[in-house]
Amino acid sequence: MSFQTEIAKRRTFGIISHPDAGKTTLTEKLLLFGGAIQEAGAVKNNKIKKAATSDFMEIERQRGISVATSVLAFIYRDKKINILDTPGHKDFAEDTFRTLTAVDSVIVVIDVAKGVEEQTEKLVEVCRMRKIPMIVFINKLDREGKDAFDLLDEVEQKLGLSVTPLSFPIGMGYDFKGIYNIYERNINLFSGNSKKNIEDTIAFDDITNPQLEKIIGEKAALELRDNLELVSGVYTAFDRELYLNGSQQPVFFGSALNNFGVRELLDCFIDIAPPPKTKMAEEREVKANETDFSGFVFKIHANMDPKHRDRLAFVKIVSGTFERNKPYLHVRHGKKLKFSSPNAFFAEKKEIVDISYPGDIVGLHDTGNFKIGDTLTAGEELNYKGIPSFSPEHFRYINNADPMKAKQLYKGIDQLMDEGVAQLFTLELNGRKVIGTVGALQYEVIQYRLEHEYGAKCTYENFPVYKACWVEAKENNEEFKEFKRIKQKFLAKDKRGQLVFLADSAFSLQMTQQKYPSVKLHFTSEFGD
Ligand code: G4P
Repeated sequence: MSFQTEIAKRRTFGIISHPDAGKTTLTEKLLLFGGAIQEAGAVKNNKIKKAATSDFMEIERQRGISVATSVLAFIYRDKKINILDTPGHKDFAEDTFRTLTAVDSVIVVIDVAKGVEEQTEKLVEVCRMRKIPMIVFINKLDREGKDAFDLLDEVEQKLGLSVTPLSFPIGMGYDFKGIYNIYERNINLFSGNSKKNIEDTIAFDDITNPQLEKIIGEKAALELRDNLELVSGVYTAFDRELYLNGSQQPVFFGSALNNFGVRELLDCFIDIAPPPKTKMAEEREVKANETDFSGFVFKIHANMDPKHRDRLAFVKIVSGTFERNKPYLHVRHGKKLKFSSPNAFFAEKKEIVDISYPGDIVGLHDTGNFKIGDTLTAGEELNYKGIPSFSPEHFRYINNADPMKAKQLYKGIDQLMDEGVAQLFTLELNGRKVIGTVGALQYEVIQYRLEHEYGAKCTYENFPVYKACWVEAKENNEEFKEFKRIKQKFLAKDKRGQLVFLADSAFSLQMTQQKYPSVKLHFTSEFGD
């Protein structure tokens, strides 16, 4: 098969949702369609449940599972589908943000009863800013939930999207009869039977046909006709270009648990979702069909076996082919590296592969060479952009609790930060180290891992910070010099050496912005693009 055909058949995407909306269930049903797994229940739940906050064995067990399910690949209708797993737990939101830099599109799952929830809002905002094509799947139609139109309004308003329904429910909950597939123009009747398959679909392209009454009953037929009229009156018709540039989001309805509406979603996804895209590097735009390999590290999974400091770096291939045992340039280090056992992912297994294509993810064994955001190429000096750090929500000083183990502690902190577990800030004033995290859970994870993997002990001390802001200013500017002098106590360097202002309150942030207007304060580490 030609290189071009290989690229065209790849669909790399992520499923995002608020915990419990049905992401795991939907993933599993998609894998069933691909024949990648034989039975429901085969995909282990990759959730770090709230109850697990102080149960470290549970966290470790979950980490094990999440390596296996980091990338789930399968073939469906001759397309190679790569699903990149995103942790639903909010304390791992940063992980999810980074994974979103490696997807070409996303499916957003929303619970019909709960509507748009907090975590969905945050994640969709990131996708919207990056103009990632999104399909919305409204799940759990077998339960009573919100009215479909109200929900579509909520999605538009809370998520800032422009939706267009490509299917529409017929009834809901106890009264749920099925869905009308606007995209394919057919009716899919719901029997509450999880073995539903394609044969159950009735082609129905003329909604005025009186046969409709016979199939779904008089009342439901009337309602469906009204609803579809409203849909075509209110929403702009589906336009693939708009979807691809992030300006329109098709919506499907269904029930993942009952495997209902999932085939429709998948079939449409295969048709419309984008193959691997062109990506911006700092130096230039890189097209997927360029022959020279390039890719970037978006995730690092470490120390599955604490006895070996083994890490798996996940690389998204942007262009060219990645081949086993071929030397590639690690751009940040300026040296060539060869990989004798790159892993590819298939369903919930990983195996060694000789060649991978744009859109694919390879897992590379690493002994500490990689950081998140690193670029690998066939030789060209490229640096992929787009893996910013966001301001953490929590900040604590980290102290060494065992003076004999200082070296181990610093090595541990260094490696955990490379993995992206949390962010490290070093105060300008006294060199003290501050760990910033998205959720409180990470502090326990860090403490546990430092002890079990590096033999080091740490304690924490509260450090009240409202927000970390990355500073942008001209070096010799007088105002900047004064800012640095007056605010010295609040300044730190992040791991890349960028200057960060740690504002202790919203008020002080506002005052600082007013007083030093030429000093720009950013909430993410990447700006100016
Ligand atoms: P998540 O990954 O987004 O966190 O959600 P997950 O798939 O684990 O689903 C959360 C709960 O919602 C699960 O129930 C799951 O069975 C249920 N669910 C998913 N899709 C549907 C659906 O279409 N209809 C209904 N009625 N329920 C659905 P649970 O009781 O929390 O877990 P489990 O014991 O069933 O695994």
